Amino acid sequence: MKENGIFITFEGPDGAGKTTIINLVAKELPNVLLTREPGGIEIAEQIRRVILDKENTAMDPRTEALLYAAARRQHLIEKVKPALQEGKVVLCDRFVDSSLAYQGYARGLGMDEVYTINQFAIEELMPELTIYFDIEPELGMERINQNKGREVNRLDLEDLDFHHKVREGYHILLDRFPNRMIRIDASGKVDRVLKETLRIIKDRMSL
Ligand code: TMP
Repeated sequence: MKENGIFITFEGPDGAGKTTIINLVAKELPNVLLTREPGGIEIAEQIRRVILDKENTAMDPRTEALLYAAARRQHLIEKVKPALQEGKVVLCDRFVDSSLAYQGYARGLGMDEVYTINQFAIEELMPELTIYFDIEPELGMERINQNKGREVNRLDLEDLDFHHKVREGYHILLDRFPNRMIRIDASGKVDRVLKETLRIIKDRMSL
């Protein structure tokens, strides 16, 4: 069936504040489905618990990449595709670019290799627009430590070097996909970041 909706993803290093902004963006747009990865539906939330469990320190990087891809597949089939077919604006907190930056680049599995396993999962369904919230990892980590309500997961426990690599990975993706990916400086105040995010989305949707 043809998809009439628009698929928009949000990306960035940990602590960029994207979840806060997406929740606000969702209130400003019509016909929205707000969701997240890994998770968004029961099976994928179960996989999320396995991936992010702080006890699972023995997890091999390829296992991690495959689990993210598996969660992605289920979420896409159960939630994203049906919503796009209904003409919804699907806002997704993280998607395949997270796997490319975190597993492909920061973990060193290779971006092309990680894209290949993800192609099996997503079958060419890429977002029309990806908003990338850019933040210095030092500031991102500081925000996470201040946000006491937020879960601290296995990836948050990685060292600062890892988070620098994640950011470098995203910058490579920005160069590779200049039409799809738009960078926003996420170090500023919520109001400003929200305004800029809405402007970019509305431009793309011709609202
Ligand atoms: P969240 O904190 O934004 O919900 O994301 C959970 C963690 O999972 C975060 O540290 C980023 C990481 N992640 C990956 O490493 N690869 C992926 O493909 C996705 C979707 C998330």
